[in-house]
Amino acid sequence: MSDKIILTGIKPTGMPHIGNYLGVYKHLIELSQDYKTVAFIADLHALNTIHDPKVIKQYTYEMAAFILAMGLNMDNAILFRQSDIDAIYKLNTFLMNVTPKGLMNRAHSYKAILEKNAASGDDPDNGVNMGLYTYPILMSADILLYNSDIVPVGSDQKQHVEFARDIAEYFNRTYGNTFRLPEPQISKDSGLIPGLDGRKMSKSYDNTIPIFAPESELKKKIMRIITDSKLPDEPKNPDESTIFLLYKHFATDAQIANMRELFEKGKIGYGDAKKMLFDAINTYLSEPRKKYEYFMSHTDELDKILADGAATATKIANKTIERIKKSMLG
Ligand code: TRP
Repeated sequence: MSDKIILTGIKPTGMPHIGNYLGVYKHLIELSQDYKTVAFIADLHALNTIHDPKVIKQYTYEMAAFILAMGLNMDNAILFRQSDIDAIYKLNTFLMNVTPKGLMNRAHSYKAILEKNAASGDDPDNGVNMGLYTYPILMSADILLYNSDIVPVGSDQKQHVEFARDIAEYFNRTYGNTFRLPEPQISKDSGLIPGLDGRKMSKSYDNTIPIFAPESELKKKIMRIITDSKLPDEPKNPDESTIFLLYKHFATDAQIANMRELFEKGKIGYGDAKKMLFDAINTYLSEPRKKYEYFMSHTDELDKILADGAATATKIANKTIERIKKSMLG
């Protein structure tokens, strides 16, 4: 086992969809088989949009149950709530003072809001609270607090990890070599998982397949996948079909080769291909779904896992804070 530390934060914003899973979390779970892994539910990051504590609490359980059910290797990993670690609030305050405001102005997520406000003629900062504006500083604190080397994220978060590197560099330049420089790692599937309408699967397009949808809903969603109007006996290019592109992630090699052939030779209609896709996804998710349901009806066990994780994380984090406090305040 390498001594590199993998870290990622999972923002609790409701049930993940299979695009989130295949694009980010599957990769994290694979890494957790071989590396020391720090995984946490980023509930403080949800605060800038979700202002109902009951909702955040529920989503936090859902995300914890999800990542455990999908197989995060707890022999190598710790899992905790971001907000349970006191040191995070401290490091956030310290990093504020080495972070240029201009860096925040360059954040894609903030710029997207400015553009939206400009388009609708609103005040540029309409709807922007300071939690949102300084989001990348808190995220840098997450990354730097636990001395992480590799941060697996979706492509939308790459810039934030680069900011963490920039902030670590500003800090190191000012106070001497203190922080390790983290690297973002983007899974090759990130952003490439098609949704029901063939565009990238994303909540904002309303084209997602929730990962633990009940079977009947899963089936309904899959049947809604948009296809062209080719007939069953017409040859079809599998690599342009949402059905096949999703199937590839859930079926065995033999099944994938078989579907490719059926498409290319014009031996299957889209309806039957969708049934094959449903069976593959349903089989793949049947055990995780059971585990997920188990955890969601035993949240006391989740609390225990999260508390154990927080205890370990606190020890690591407090060491970092001691060092930083000394560097900055003497
Ligand atoms: N910002 C990430 C997201 O929206 C979640 C997150 C919070 C995170 N802290 C992090 C990811 C630290 C990686 C590392 O998905």
